[in-house]
Amino acid sequence: MFIRHFPGVLVTAALGVQAFSWPNDPYGQTELTPAPKGCWSPDSESKQFTLVVMPDTQYLYDQNRIHPVPMEHAFEYVTSCNDTRENIVFMAHLGDVAQNGLAEEYQVASKAFERLDEAGVAYSMLAGNHDIDSSTDDTRGSTPFLDAFGSKRFANSKTYKGSNKGGYNSYHIFRAGGREWLLLALDWRMSNSSFDWANEVLTNHSTLPAILTTHELVSPDTGKTEFSAYGDEVWNKLIKNHDQIFLTLNGHFWPAGRTHRTNSAGNRVDSHITNYQNRYYGGAGMIRLYRFDLDKNTIEVSTFSPWIHGLMKHGKANKLALQEASLTSDEDQFTMSVNFDKRFSRSNSTKTKRSDVKEVIPGTLAYWRFDGHENQTPVTSNDTIRDLSGHGNDLKFCGVNESAHHSMRWSNAHHPQQPGHGSLNFTGQKQPLRGSYFQTVDHAPINYAQFEHGYTFEAYYYLPSSWSSDQNAWSSILSRWGTAGQANKTGAGVDPDEPIVSLSLSDDRELQWRAYPLHKNVGSTNWGHESPFDTWWHVAVVNNGTLTKMFVDGCEVVRNPEQWVPGLTTLNQPWMLGGYEYNGTINQIFYGSIGDVRIVNRPLSIEEFLLHSCAGPTTSPP
Ligand SMILES: *[C@@H]1O[C@H](CO)[C@@H](O)[C@H](O)[C@H]1NC(C)=O
Ligand SMILES: *[C@@H]1O[C@H](CO)[C@@H](O)[C@H](O)[C@H]1NC(C)=O
Ligand SMILES: *[C@@H]1O[C@H](CO)[C@@H](O)[C@H](O)[C@H]1NC(C)=O
Ligand SMILES: *[C@@H]1O[C@H](CO)[C@@H](O)[C@H](O)[C@H]1NC(C)=O
Ligand SMILES: *[C@@H]1O[C@H](CO)[C@@H](O)[C@H](O)[C@H]1NC(C)=O
Ligand SMILES: *[C@@H]1O[C@H](CO)[C@@H](O)[C@H](O)[C@H]1NC(C)=O
Ligand SMILES: *[C@@H]1O[C@H](CO)[C@@H](O)[C@H](O)[C@H]1NC(C)=O
Ligand SMILES: *[C@@H]1O[C@H](CO)[C@@H](O)[C@H](O)[C@H]1NC(C)=O
Ligand SMILES: *[C@@H]1O[C@H](CO)[C@@H](O)[C@H](O)[C@H]1NC(C)=O
Ligand SMILES: *[C@@H]1O[C@H](CO)[C@@H](O)[C@H](O)[C@H]1NC(C)=O
Repeated sequence: MFIRHFPGVLVTAALGVQAFSWPNDPYGQTELTPAPKGCWSPDSESKQFTLVVMPDTQYLYDQNRIHPVPMEHAFEYVTSCNDTRENIVFMAHLGDVAQNGLAEEYQVASKAFERLDEAGVAYSMLAGNHDIDSSTDDTRGSTPFLDAFGSKRFANSKTYKGSNKGGYNSYHIFRAGGREWLLLALDWRMSNSSFDWANEVLTNHSTLPAILTTHELVSPDTGKTEFSAYGDEVWNKLIKNHDQIFLTLNGHFWPAGRTHRTNSAGNRVDSHITNYQNRYYGGAGMIRLYRFDLDKNTIEVSTFSPWIHGLMKHGKANKLALQEASLTSDEDQFTMSVNFDKRFSRSNSTKTKRSDVKEVIPGTLAYWRFDGHENQTPVTSNDTIRDLSGHGNDLKFCGVNESAHHSMRWSNAHHPQQPGHGSLNFTGQKQPLRGSYFQTVDHAPINYAQFEHGYTFEAYYYLPSSWSSDQNAWSSILSRWGTAGQANKTGAGVDPDEPIVSLSLSDDRELQWRAYPLHKNVGSTNWGHESPFDTWWHVAVVNNGTLTKMFVDGCEVVRNPEQWVPGLTTLNQPWMLGGYEYNGTINQIFYGSIGDVRIVNRPLSIEEFLLHSCAGPTTSPP
């Protein structure tokens, strides 16, 4: 509860008690209906729905200048259960809730938000520069803002799915238009580990269309709307690499504006500034409606103050208020088109497939298998390999100096315990370099994966006795484009020209897992034993966030290092199946066969491997 001070009069505005009213004070002209409890229930299957955006409300909460009523009326609009005009599914605040980051400011703001809590409205919060010490990043620790709007507040929220460790970044998943949508609410300044967190959230939910909200991103300061310096950082470290992000929303700057950029997948990302704090009554609790229409593939945007509309209804809006009732400039009222089906259809269609495949266990990022083709038919450059995990990590064909003798074939051959009854017959050679391989498509989410919480890479492989050390040594089953040098790894034993991750065969056909972990300046190697010819093998490489171990046919090998190796370095480039890079170019192509390959973003126990056990027959020792 707060007290408004007027000479000689005390007014408790939250109760609407009005002992005295200044003539023409728009504030005193307002009546608020009580918050309806738990009645908010949008139609999550309707193809028409509305996202509400509320920018910088800081001048409503400024030390002893506290005026929550415009915000309360905006919330009344959002929660108006009987109002069939809108199908409001979510509300996002864009930060700068209050002006000075003071506990007493949030006490009142928090009370206003209780209206949303009581009605059960789904909403997200993030900190702007006024909500916290603007010189700090999101490792700043607790603040009055976080006390009021941190994870505690969302304990009963149906859409809140989690925050990063410090609590300043969060994400929500809401259902609308018959599908799920992801919304990220990111802090004023993200630390590196928060970028890792946000990248992981997006990768974990790569099939969901995503909206990114943060306080500062695009700015009008150069005379046209462009990414600010910090906005560029967010673009480079996060936005451009996740094709699922189609819209970003930020406040902070004014006037309102909009721009768009093309992401790494070649798709459009729209970026809007929304902020009215500079206008009469601190923006008068202005909100933006994003009215999605999935049938028309449009989003209709409009901007208005529900509070002023309320005053107008009673003929009580003053002349300055009237100017702010609805904003109709090109930057505040417009329609954008997004072909949702086209943009998100891949995730949509593969999702159905996903449940059919029992090998797609929780955490599976990619699962490739090669069955379903006529034995020994050539693979053509038009062939792609679908990622059965449903994450869109599909493989496309690549070839170097192919010829009849060096073309890849589909094969029926496979390991006896392999789920997919098929394989790829690779015929690469080193001198001169010839052969074919596959690599993940350019925008595949797995290209960005960092595996901070561990991983399991599994593959089946076979080396025929025609394999020769001269021609086939140091070829890879799986590897990641990008070299240790490009990743700025300079420590002891680093070969700057080698790939940041590879699972290869040495000149003695020993398996070698060579990987550069995150945030460390060295590489790490696990060695298997010499692979016997003409036999199918299963290899698994398992990392639990700390240690990496290799297993052959489910049996742990001896040459596993005791080395702290968290995650995998990425330069956001594709993975290759059967290709190996050295010093920036393709250098070797696999010879032999590769069967099912699965990548999971957590350590698996042996029982969870595609091949279940290392147990031998029960016999007595000789
Ligand atoms: C909604 O409409 C019903 C029936 O018209 C009415 O009884 C109820 O009070 C309304 N609720 C609100 C919050 O306006
Ligand atoms: C964050 O990561 C960048 C590289 O992406 C690095 O240059 C910078 O030093 C890191 N900052 C911190 C605080 O670790
Ligand atoms: C991503 O998914 C993995 C596996 O379910 C989980 O352990 C991890 O915490 C998730 N990451 C985030 C940031 O939610
Ligand atoms: C899923 O894909 C189908 C076929 O392409 C399309 O008709 C449908 O609208 C899509 N659904 C969603 C929610 O995108
Ligand atoms: C690949 O597809 C293109 C276009 O459909 C076709 O012209 C070409 O012949 C195909 N190539 C092969 C090797 O099948
Ligand atoms: C293709 O083979 C020729 C020799 O036949 C070799 O000079 C060339 O480097 C090879 N191409 C690539 C990309 O390695
Ligand atoms: C490596 O260092 C260079 C020069 O400092 C820098 O431009 C580049 O971004 C760094 N790359 C990575 C992946 O950290
Ligand atoms: C990983 O495994 C090692 C060996 O069992 C264990 O010491 C370590 O604590 C594990 N790390 C994690 C993060 O579970
Ligand atoms: C790596 O490639 C560069 C040209 O891209 C070349 O100058 C350099 O000599 C190569 N290094 C090795 C070790 O082959
Ligand atoms: C290709 O597969 C066949 C079995 O289907 C095998 O006999 C042959 O050795 C394989 N060749 C290579 C290069 O793996």
